[in-house]
Amino acid sequence: AVHRREDYRPPAWLVPDVSLDFALDPSATRVRARLDVRRGGETGEPLRLDGDGLTPIAVLVDGVAVNDWRMENDQLVIPLSGDAHVIETEVEIAPDRNTQLMGLYSSGGNLCTQCEAEGFRRITFFPDRPDVLATYRVRMSADKARYPVLLANGDPIASGDNGDGTHWAEWHDPFPKPSYLFALVAGDLACNRGTFTTRSGREVELGIWVRAADLSKTDHALHALKLSMAWDERVYGREYDLDVFNIVAVDDFNFGAMENKGLNIFNSRYILADPDTATDYDYDAIATVVAHEYFHNWSGNRVTCRDWFQLSLKEGFTVFRDQGFSADQGSAAVKRIEDVRGLRASQFPEDAGPLAHPVRPESYLEISNFYTSTIYNKGAELIRMMATILGPTRFRAACDLYFDRFDGTAATCEDFVACMEEGGGVDLSRFRLWYSQAGTPRVAASLSHDGGRATLRLAQHVPPTPGQAVKEPMVLPLKIRLFGAETGRPLGPEQLVLLEDASETILFDGVAERPVLSINRGFSAPVTIESDRTAEELAFLARHDDDPFARYEAMQQLMLDTLVAGAVEGAADHRAVIDAVADTLDDPTLDRAFVAEAVLLPSESFIGDQLSVVDPDAIFAAREALRADLGRALGDRWREIYDANESDRPYEYTPAAKAARRIRNVALGYIAASGASDAAALAFCQFERADNMTDRQGALSVLVNGESDLREAALDIFYNRYAGNPLVLDKWFQTQALSTRVDTLAAVRALAEHPDFTLANPNRARSLIGAFAVNQRAFNQADGAGYRFLADQLIALDRLNPQTAAKLLPPLGRWRRFDPARAALMRAELERIVGTSGLSKDLFEQASKSLDG
Ligand code: ARG
Ligand code: ZN
Repeated sequence: AVHRREDYRPPAWLVPDVSLDFALDPSATRVRARLDVRRGGETGEPLRLDGDGLTPIAVLVDGVAVNDWRMENDQLVIPLSGDAHVIETEVEIAPDRNTQLMGLYSSGGNLCTQCEAEGFRRITFFPDRPDVLATYRVRMSADKARYPVLLANGDPIASGDNGDGTHWAEWHDPFPKPSYLFALVAGDLACNRGTFTTRSGREVELGIWVRAADLSKTDHALHALKLSMAWDERVYGREYDLDVFNIVAVDDFNFGAMENKGLNIFNSRYILADPDTATDYDYDAIATVVAHEYFHNWSGNRVTCRDWFQLSLKEGFTVFRDQGFSADQGSAAVKRIEDVRGLRASQFPEDAGPLAHPVRPESYLEISNFYTSTIYNKGAELIRMMATILGPTRFRAACDLYFDRFDGTAATCEDFVACMEEGGGVDLSRFRLWYSQAGTPRVAASLSHDGGRATLRLAQHVPPTPGQAVKEPMVLPLKIRLFGAETGRPLGPEQLVLLEDASETILFDGVAERPVLSINRGFSAPVTIESDRTAEELAFLARHDDDPFARYEAMQQLMLDTLVAGAVEGAADHRAVIDAVADTLDDPTLDRAFVAEAVLLPSESFIGDQLSVVDPDAIFAAREALRADLGRALGDRWREIYDANESDRPYEYTPAAKAARRIRNVALGYIAASGASDAAALAFCQFERADNMTDRQGALSVLVNGESDLREAALDIFYNRYAGNPLVLDKWFQTQALSTRVDTLAAVRALAEHPDFTLANPNRARSLIGAFAVNQRAFNQADGAGYRFLADQLIALDRLNPQTAAKLLPPLGRWRRFDPARAALMRAELERIVGTSGLSKDLFEQASKSLDG
């Protein structure tokens, strides 16, 4: 059944308190639940408890077994008179047969849970909706040898031995929470312990729980947790509220991590790191995700969501918060560039395709399908725009008001915006459209200059999206500055222009020299700018703009224009790009980390997004031609950079050391692109001598794209060195799936039969199937074999794990962007998926919308 936002009704029954008793066993866990229920709505409404695959073994009302309950679909319906009762139920579940990884499941011999969004109903009968807030008391008993550690939300209350080889523990969480934040873990785990003293003096015991063999890889995560706790106090005034904060890492996990109250559960890839196995990118991602889940304690847990249409209330805001945290750890400019690149890689295509939806959706079939880049990343951009409009001081006051007013409740996006207005003293009535209107606005900007006056004409257009044919103009905060073309100096200060209408004209007086337009500085609005700036003007901004993002953006636009010309016309003039890259490399004032980002070409898929019909082979050829030219024309510089940034010190995770590795690997890529005869040897030498994964994987990727004999050698060495380390084997699969070689599909097919490949582990499935599906040329090969391979894998994966399968479907939905032959082949695979019997609603929703939209 389709769920609609407008159908929201407050819960008929509330559950102030819950006690759960788990007799844990991998094949037969008994769950007894005791719910204090209170009528919240009209009398006469029966109690409806959600279940998913559960059969009641017993149902008691006020201590008496009853039999007037009934099952309506998966709901347990109990008729009740009066306003307050105690309901007891008992069910049996089998964690080791739970391949969906929702509810209680086993991973690596341990037991763990994942409840968001609707997994709790796979554990026990409950009103499994986020506006039912309860305090939880949890008792677990389990085999002591197999599960020596028993963890749940909140604080540990008591524990003991049953004297029969089993033991028990009891936990109590004093903060009322929705069921999606419930968690327990039972396993054989070791702990990296730490402490954090909050600013009001609470001593918090921190614990990162992993397999004993992984304990040495947890220091970075623990450190990131302490930094996050301090940052949230300093920047948002938010303090932690329990005596313990535990994080458990598991290998089998559907997404990144989960913010369960006091007991975060993580995909091990976002916890485990040491220099030999994790890249700098992994280290950064770990810090970001640890911060993200920690920040949810306020933006998500203390203030939660009224219903799942409000998901961006916690996710958009929390992504915005983790972005701010990460920006403060190193280069804020590079962080912004990375975030915008991510937005363009995933959210912009989503917003332009059949699965486009507003940040606050109106309807869904399966809520898991709405944990999207639009909810998370575009949602974060909405918060960023409001923060920009308010300014830092008023934004902080507005956040304080929000946390204060809604603490302990389930709120809406509207509640948040109302606090921004009230606490910030601004009118955001028209800004709200960002929550309801999908699609990425396009802004045409043209600047003219005449007799001391500059005229900027802005016009916006929001393209139609499924179900929204006609759009209103949106409120766009655009940071703008003009620069003098002769002097290179700014003509006046940066301005914040709020574009609210379909078109607007802005005048600048006293402009003596010809002005050059710097617009959407810092990416102040998540829009596409269409400007008539010439290659010369873009090159000028790439040299002179004082906003690092705008400088990067000018370079990207220059590259993009060149690449589009190359893809459409088969050839392009590369001189302007080569000169701009040379100047960027030579500018001593620039941070090396920024330079490394600025000189990278836009991705094939982003180039494709600029074209009316995507021709993956032409795009690839144009991009390789420009890469080769850059490699050859600047050959000496790349060599110098490569040599100058070699480190003679052991691996350090510091901004300077990271920047050196980054630019050195970028240089290696260009040396290889130049076709230099020693490139493979250089890469292999780096591969063998590296003391860290960043350099080893950087070199491996170069070799894997090439034809050298050293390719197979490096892959074998890498495989043998890391046999038994699942996270590194994921990299081994992924690097091959992303290869630009023409035989990649054949290689991926073979890898799908490799003994280390399994669809049962989401990381492994994503590392091969997911990576292949974003490999533009291999996936889109003209005979449709790539599409068929993906569809086959998704149909197989859907039987095990519908959520993970559905997440990997969107590349097939891009058929409208391709030529009719490819479009037909993609549609045929979508139709085959939709026609598969026993399909999950997760995959059905994604595939059928991809066909229609
Ligand atoms: N709340 C988690 C996070 O953002 C992610 C949960 C994802 N759930 C899902 N059903 N996809 O940190
Ligand atoms: Zn989140």
